[in-house]
Amino acid sequence: MPNTLNDPTSPQPVDGRHVEASHGSHLAGLLRELWNDDRVHALMEASRDNMQKLGYTEHSWRHSALVMRQARRILEQLGYPETDCEDAAIAGLLHDVGNAISRVGHEATGVLLAGEILADHDLSYRRRLGILTAIANHDEGAGVPLNPMAAALILADKSDVHRSRVSVRDPEAFDIHDQVNFAVTSSALLIDRDAGRIILDLEVDTDIAPIMAYFEIFMSRMQMCRRASLYLDLAFGVQMNEVVLL
Ligand SMILES: [Fe+2]
Ligand SMILES: [Fe+2]
Repeated sequence: MPNTLNDPTSPQPVDGRHVEASHGSHLAGLLRELWNDDRVHALMEASRDNMQKLGYTEHSWRHSALVMRQARRILEQLGYPETDCEDAAIAGLLHDVGNAISRVGHEATGVLLAGEILADHDLSYRRRLGILTAIANHDEGAGVPLNPMAAALILADKSDVHRSRVSVRDPEAFDIHDQVNFAVTSSALLIDRDAGRIILDLEVDTDIAPIMAYFEIFMSRMQMCRRASLYLDLAFGVQMNEVVLL
C-alpha cells in the first residue's frame, strides 16, 4: 500500500503542524494522548532543529508519523495482537526523540526520554519495556530485532527513503544521502503473507542518482531489514523500478 505521507504530489510539511492536522486527527486512545503530549511536541521540535543544524534528512513529525503508521500496519497485516500493533505504533512515534538531545546514541537517549513520558500514561510496565526495547534497537549500529515491535520498527524506519525527507532545498548543496533520498519518488512496503515475503518497492529517478548509490549508502540498512524480516518469518526483497533486485 503506497504511503500517502510519501506522496510527492502532496504539499510538503514545513513543520509539525501540517502533519498534525492531516494525520493526528484520526488517532484514538493512547496514541492520541501521546501525539498530543506537550513533551512529545517539544522533542519533535528540538529533533527537527537539531537535524537541520546537522544537515540530516527530516527526522521529526513527518518521519515519526510515517514510521508509526507503517510499523502498526506491518504487525496488523501479519495478524499480531492489537496491543503489539499499538505498541509498534507508539515505538514508531517516539523512536527518534533522542535526536532532541544528540544524534550520537539517540536510540539510548530516546529510551530515557520516551520512558519518562510513557510512565505517565496508562501502560503496564511490561508494555513499556517492549516499546523501549524496540526504540533501543532501531539504529544500525547495534540494533537487533528482539521483539515483534522492534522488527516492525526497523522495517518501517529503514524503508523511509524518499524525496520528501530532504530538508536541503538547493540541489547543489545535496550530499549523497540527500541525493539518494531525492531520487526516490515512491516507496512502499508490500507484505505478501501467503508467500512469506515483504518487498521494499521503490521508484528511483536514475537521472538523479544511480541505483547502485542506494545500496552503497544503505547496505547496512538492507541487512538490518533482512534480519527484522526473518524475525517475522518473512523473506526480505527489494524491487526498484519494477525490477526485482533482491
Ligand atoms: Fe533513529
Ligand atoms: Fe527514524
